[in-house]
Amino acid sequence: MPSALPAGDPAPNDGSLPGQALAELGEQPISLYLHVPFCATRCGYCDFNTYTAAELGSAPGSSRDAYLAAARAELVLASQVLGQREVGTVFFGGGTPTLLEANELVGLLSAVRRLFPLASDAEVTTECNPESVDRRYLEALVKGGFNRISFGMQSAQPHVLRVLERRHTPGRVPEVTRWARAAGFSSVSLDLIYGTPGESLLDWRASLAAALSCEPDHVSAYALIVEDGTRLAVQIRRGELPAPIDDDQADFYELADATLRAAGLDWYELSNWSRPGHECRHNLAYWRGDSWWGIGPGAHSHVAGVRWWNVKHPRSYTEALTEGRSPAAAREQLEPDSRRMERVLLESRLAGGLDLDVLSATERGRVAGLAARGLVEEHDDRLTLTLRGRLLADAVVRDLLD
Ligand SMILES: C[S@@+](CC[C@H](N)C(=O)[O-])C[C@H]1O[C@@H](n2cnc3c(N)ncnc32)[C@H](O)[C@@H]1O
Ligand code: SF4
Repeated sequence: MPSALPAGDPAPNDGSLPGQALAELGEQPISLYLHVPFCATRCGYCDFNTYTAAELGSAPGSSRDAYLAAARAELVLASQVLGQREVGTVFFGGGTPTLLEANELVGLLSAVRRLFPLASDAEVTTECNPESVDRRYLEALVKGGFNRISFGMQSAQPHVLRVLERRHTPGRVPEVTRWARAAGFSSVSLDLIYGTPGESLLDWRASLAAALSCEPDHVSAYALIVEDGTRLAVQIRRGELPAPIDDDQADFYELADATLRAAGLDWYELSNWSRPGHECRHNLAYWRGDSWWGIGPGAHSHVAGVRWWNVKHPRSYTEALTEGRSPAAAREQLEPDSRRMERVLLESRLAGGLDLDVLSATERGRVAGLAARGLVEEHDDRLTLTLRGRLLADAVVRDLLD
C-alpha cells in the first residue's frame, strides 16, 4: 500500500512558481524525473506509489494511455513554467517503467526533447525489472536515446527472492545485463537489498559475487526497510518472519563495502558504489540540492527551495491534467534553516563530504569530538564520514546539528 502524502500549502492550479525561486534558479539546468506508477505484481516489501492492473480496475482515467497523455501534458506545463532551459539528466523510475512498451518510453523521451534542450551529454536512465524486458526492447531504448539502465536484482538467492516476493529467477540478471551491454548502454547498474529475513552473511556474499560477475558499472545496495502497511510488515508482526536486526545490517553493509571496493567500485553515497565516472548524475543532483521537476502521480519536485508533490492516484493525476490543472497536491517554501539542515543531511552522505562552511560555530565545535570517536574526518575544509560513521550516519548528523 503506498504511504500517505505530507501536508503542505495550497499549490496554484497553473503550476506557477514564486518569482524569487525562478530568479534563484537563473540559467541553471534542471533534471527531470518521470514516475511510471505500474507494476505487474506488488513485491511484499514495497510501499512505492505503484499499482497493479487489478488495483487500477478499468476506469478510463487509470489506463496506460490516459497516463501517457497526462505525463505529456505535465511536461508541457513544466516547459511553460521553466521556459527553455537545459535538461542535464532524465530518470524514468517507478513502479516499473519497463512495463510500458519501448516505443512508449521513447515517445515520452522524445516529448522531453521537443520541449526542452537536452544537454549533449545528458544522462538518460530507466529503472528496469529484469523480468519485463528482452533484447529487442533494450535495443529500442538505446536507439531512442537512453544511455543508462538500472536493474532491480535485489538478490541472487532463490529463498531470499521468495521472501521478497520477487518474480524473477536469479539467472535472468546476467542475461539482461549482457543484452544491455550489447545494446550499447554506457552505464549498467544493479539494485540489491540486504538484511531480508532468513538471509545469512553467506547468502549476501553470494549475491554480491553474482552481481559482480555481471560486471556492473554501478551498484546500489539498500538495507531492507520494513515499511508500515506492507505484507512484509504484517508477516513480521505476526511472527511469521523475523525482523531485520541492526547489528546484522551493519555486518552486511561492511561486507558490501569491502567486496565492491575490491572489485573497483568505490562508494560515492552511503548506499551507492560505482566505477570512476559512472556515478548516477541524476541522484547526485537530488543529493546536492539541485532543481528537478518530477512528472507523474505522486512525483515530488524541487526548484530553488520550493518543493511540491503530485496527487498520488493515477486517476486523480490524469483528471487534473485533463481539466488543464496542475496535478500538484500541495507545496512548501523551505526556510533558509531547513534548507541548510537538508544540505547537511544529504551532503554528509556523499564521499565528497560536507562543506564545513555550512555549519554554525557551535556545530563546528562538535566536529573534533565526532572525529575522536572515529566517525568523521576533516579534509580540505570538508567533513566526510568514516566507514564507522557511515554505519551510524543518521546519529552522526543528529549529534552535529543544533
Ligand atoms: C522502483 S524500484 C526499481 C525498479 C523496479 N520496480 C524493480 O523493483 O525492479 C527501486 C528500488 O528500491 C529498492 N526498494 C524498494 N523498496 C524497498 C524497501 N522497502 N527496502 C529497501 N529497498 C527498497 C529496491 O532495491 C528497488 O530496486
Ligand atoms: S517491482 Fe519495484 S516498484 Fe514494483 S512493487 Fe516491486 S520493488 Fe516496488
